[in-house]
Amino acid sequence: DASDIEKGTYPHYMLKEIDEQPLVMRKIIQKYQNENGELTIDQEIVEAMNDADRIYIIAAGTSYHAGLVGKQFIEKIAKIPVEVHISSEFGYNIPLLSEKPLFIFISQSGETADSRAVLVNVKKMGHKALTITNVPGSTLSREADYTLLLHAGPEIAVASTKAYTAQIAVLSILAEVTAKSRGLELDFNLVQELGIVANAMEVLCDAKEEFEDIARKFLSTTRNAFFIGRGIDYYVGLEGALKLKEISYIQAEGFAGGELKHGTIALIENGTPIIALATQESVNLSIRGNVKEVVARGANPCIISMKGLETEEDSFIIPEVNELLTPLISVIPLQLISYFAALHRECDVDKPRNLAKSVTVE
Ligand code: AGP
Repeated sequence: DASDIEKGTYPHYMLKEIDEQPLVMRKIIQKYQNENGELTIDQEIVEAMNDADRIYIIAAGTSYHAGLVGKQFIEKIAKIPVEVHISSEFGYNIPLLSEKPLFIFISQSGETADSRAVLVNVKKMGHKALTITNVPGSTLSREADYTLLLHAGPEIAVASTKAYTAQIAVLSILAEVTAKSRGLELDFNLVQELGIVANAMEVLCDAKEEFEDIARKFLSTTRNAFFIGRGIDYYVGLEGALKLKEISYIQAEGFAGGELKHGTIALIENGTPIIALATQESVNLSIRGNVKEVVARGANPCIISMKGLETEEDSFIIPEVNELLTPLISVIPLQLISYFAALHRECDVDKPRNLAKSVTVE
């Protein structure tokens, strides 16, 4: 309950929750480590992962966006095929299922009615389900076969921030532990990499003034804004767009860089803000090519790149972290830019109009 959690010196829960992210990363590492310092997950969950021929991730909103990143981890690290579905669609548009599916429900609150409807349905069909949630004892946790907790602490602001990064961190651990149980060789140490992420998050949380300037420069009067990225950056762009629209009411959309020319580029006018993410070496040249395309049509580009991939035109350079884990870092500038854009527009940051913290109706 919001009244039990103090904002302390923070003007808004959202800002407090953004700032808690480094701490949450460290808490997750600690909670998922055994006495030898190795990452560990309940044996029965690992077995359920290994028994599955395909994983179906079901979620809504920000949790769906975390699921898109989770798919990358599970496929690239643990080598199990994954589909990610919006819960409200899956309910009446069930795809052809594989022979041995495992369902993973991602839900901060554990109470989202759309997701619960799918859970009830797949349990009836006799399938196994794992819930990844921030709330122990929540409906989705109780009704699934297994639960993994986010350990993010209560999230009060309607706009989800620390739950998103916690979901991604827990999904990375699930992928790593499953991969190891399958005898797959990994070329990185996840505990170490998540530690590097926590430090990088601190650097970003300390750069608030820069993000406030970016929000002022790009978003103070605009009607709309576009987020572009390729691969994993595209998924983070979707989350950035959702954050911006829900709290600042700026019409925002996330797009795959290469998809712009297939329609959306028609919307670019003089001064349209384009927030581009460039954290992936393999697509760095192509995303920068997309930025050139929109700049030629008058767009106002704000490029957020990762150290090592930066150029002089970039607005902000995030610290270097493992390529797969960049969403944990690149989302923080987007959260803070959205926060300041909403603040400058005098919006109710913690309780945006028309929205509830958990959506318990279908
Ligand atoms: C996030 O900022 C949103 N308010 C919303 O999209 C949310 O992520 C969605 O409703 C799902 O909620 P859940 O994670 O509690 O299931």
